[in-house]
Amino acid sequence: MKQKIPNTFGLTVFAQNVVTVTSPEQLQQVWQDNYQNLPIMIIGEGSNTLFTCDFDGIIIVNRIKGITISETEQAWHLKVGAGETWHDLVSTTIKQNIPGLENLALIPGCVGSAPIQNIGAYGVEFQKVADYVELLELATGKIITVTDGQYGYRESIFKKEYLQGYAVINVGIKLPKQWQPVLTYGELRNFDPKIVTAKMIFDKVCEIRCSKLPDPKVLGNGGSFFKNPVIDKIVADKLLEIYPNMPIYPQANHQTKLAAGWLIDQCGLKSYQIGGAAVHQQQALVLVNKDQATAQDVVELARHIKKCVLQKFSVNLSPEIRFIGNSGEIDADNYL
Ligand code: FAD
Ligand code: EPU
Repeated sequence: MKQKIPNTFGLTVFAQNVVTVTSPEQLQQVWQDNYQNLPIMIIGEGSNTLFTCDFDGIIIVNRIKGITISETEQAWHLKVGAGETWHDLVSTTIKQNIPGLENLALIPGCVGSAPIQNIGAYGVEFQKVADYVELLELATGKIITVTDGQYGYRESIFKKEYLQGYAVINVGIKLPKQWQPVLTYGELRNFDPKIVTAKMIFDKVCEIRCSKLPDPKVLGNGGSFFKNPVIDKIVADKLLEIYPNMPIYPQANHQTKLAAGWLIDQCGLKSYQIGGAAVHQQQALVLVNKDQATAQDVVELARHIKKCVLQKFSVNLSPEIRFIGNSGEIDADNYL
């Protein structure tokens, strides 16, 4: 009998089989027993994936656990099982007075997924704390340790060279003891760097996130649906002449990052609904499953948003969420 695929969008989608694994050996076994006959996909919590239809294969849910912490004079070194919950890891470190992950509090998903899209929030990206990523090469059972993840904005080597045939099994994180608070983003700027603690930042980030991002357990969603577009500074400056209040984030190489949520909001799309899918009222970059949405409702809504933003600003939005078809990942840009 087909089984329901876990996903934070709360979409009702099925796979031939959904298998939870708790060790690399088990993961390898499931892969070896099935790869010749069926498509296989590994997931954490399905918080960054849009299953556009049922999956004609096996979904492996990674629950490889374990956190070990060692220290040197300079830093704490964490080795974390890919199936640990990211936010639990952040909470654990803060409780143990190990600072460094506080800006990344409350990001859903598993630790193994953090390097894949180089998770980021409130001025910090995973790459800042990355030490190494341990991959299991599924065809051989070999373990590969990657120390250069070639990280970028929502990018890494794990979305390229290591996209197929590899599973993240452990993640190494390095947190220097010489802690420097990162207070560059939004309301965090109000903190006094001389007295702020990691716990204060952790609490504030949790508070801000709860005020605008819907809890997937209450209202299904996949976080930001699109990436913030990075465009030529010259083009951004032209837009700024027309929209002087437009938020911008200057980047290297004469590029400027825009806030996709602001662009969507300016199109008047907050709360806009197609079928059961809607633009979130508190954050226009988040699409929510308001009323038993189907994947096609979400896709239609995303298409509409993309079209409106292109018409109004001549800016192209590209999905952040990974689109999955019946046998594996599909090109999200082409699909919209
Ligand atoms: P999944 O959706 O399960 O998987 C994502 C991709 O990684 C899939 O392609 C999957 O095949 C692959 N994958 C997963 N595990 C493995 C593995 N062990 N080995 C190989 N491949 C694997 N992201 C941010 O960066 N910043 C945010 O602030 C943020 N906020 C969010 C808020 C909400 C409310 C939600 C719902 C999402 C948010 N996200 C954010 C997106 C999401 O939380 C992250 O992308 C997270 O890292 C995804 O984790 P996951 O385990 O659910 O990944
Ligand atoms: N804005 C609006 N209207 C909206 C939404 C946003 O005007 O409906 C404006 C805000 O006022 C702000 C700017 O747009 O000036 C940016 O908004 P916000 O700070 O909420 O962040 P974001 O750019 O929408 C990004 C990440 C989030 C991350 C936050 C905080 C992307 C695609 N998204 O969102 O990550 O948590 O910054 O750092 O980069 C995710 O990846 O799933 C995610 C939630």
